[in-house]
Amino acid sequence: MTMMKKLHLGVAALAVSATGAIAQEVEVLHWWTSGGEAAALNVLREDLSGGGIGWTDMPVAGGGGSDAMTVLRARVTAGDPPTAVQMLGFAIQDWAAEGALANLDELAAEQGWDEVVPEALQAFSTYDGHWVAAPVNVHSTNWVWANTALMEELGIEQPTTWDEFVAAMQTAQDAGYTALAHGGQAWQDATIFDSMVMGVGGPEFYQAAMVDLDPEALGSEQMVEAFDRMATLRGFVDDNFSGRDWNLASAMVINGEALFQIMGDWAKGEFVNAGLTAGEEFQCFRVPGTEGTVTFNSDQFAMFNVDDESDQESQLAMASAVMSPEFQIAFNLVKGSAPARTDIDPSSFDACGQAAIADLAAAGESGNLFGSMAHGHANPPSIQNAMYDVITAHFNGEFDSATAAEEMVTAVELAQ
Ligand code: GAL
Repeated sequence: MTMMKKLHLGVAALAVSATGAIAQEVEVLHWWTSGGEAAALNVLREDLSGGGIGWTDMPVAGGGGSDAMTVLRARVTAGDPPTAVQMLGFAIQDWAAEGALANLDELAAEQGWDEVVPEALQAFSTYDGHWVAAPVNVHSTNWVWANTALMEELGIEQPTTWDEFVAAMQTAQDAGYTALAHGGQAWQDATIFDSMVMGVGGPEFYQAAMVDLDPEALGSEQMVEAFDRMATLRGFVDDNFSGRDWNLASAMVINGEALFQIMGDWAKGEFVNAGLTAGEEFQCFRVPGTEGTVTFNSDQFAMFNVDDESDQESQLAMASAVMSPEFQIAFNLVKGSAPARTDIDPSSFDACGQAAIADLAAAGESGNLFGSMAHGHANPPSIQNAMYDVITAHFNGEFDSATAAEEMVTAVELAQ
């Protein structure tokens, strides 16, 4: 068992400055830098500020958080960890295993986190039976975002099969639009790949390949087909896709330049931030072939071990704020995600938010809820990065689909 410093409620005196103002503060490392993300982050910042907690911002741009994790490693190595860090899935487990994270058990017990956080999230928020992170949301990643006016103009109905999806994109492309808004970045390629694996092979195959890392599944015909579908998607992106940030791809759908984007529901944050309404100006539907299943990721705040008592108090105050039901509603309405608590009334959420909440609950009950590989919830970062490399190389035409499936087997084996 690793050493985890237990944070105690109410024992550390609040640090009070000479003027009598509370000098509590959190330094938060995160990658929420798009318009919608920044708006959501502001909800948190203001919530904390209302409680007298100051905020030092440590943004590291880059969806999916790979760059943020690189900066985090450097900060910890230099002996200067931030107080709180946005973190995903297996990365939380890795840091907890290193003994770097504070123990939140006392706060969790006082507020009954065990009872309200679904097990699928607790698997990442707890390590060795101890709470080490406070989950702020659940995102589902197998969504398509669509421009309603463009669908109507082109006579496109919501596609329910892969073939219909491809036909809809062909119609848009033939009419001179970008069919699929996409940014060529490894994590974005991986995000759409998750849905191709699920769409081709279904839940059992996703489990075998992405979670259990079964070499037979990784090198199977189904994996070849998942790569074939990636190649099909590649044919529907525009010429300038390479390196584009995900929110700029969302903007193409928002502006009516592009028909669809396959992306997690943080994309909804962009649509909402642009003043659009779900079910009206834009549509959300599950990637055809993945209906009934959900691939998810949950943003959590992990608190790093720090010596300063005032910082420890601030960490607890932040964790407590993050877990409050009112905050979970206010934040997730803006972020596009579902609350991380199961006891939240969904009525204030828009059509896509309510669908997300219902889908998550149903998938959880039917055993069809799976961690997203692209977002660090299916396997550890070393494996995830190995998969990223193969997926992106294939998307950029370096491998054909059969070679890519073989490369998946080799890359995963080497990374283990
Ligand atoms: C995900 C994260 C989301 C969203 C997205 C794009 O990994 O969980 O909250 O921010 O990256 O930046």
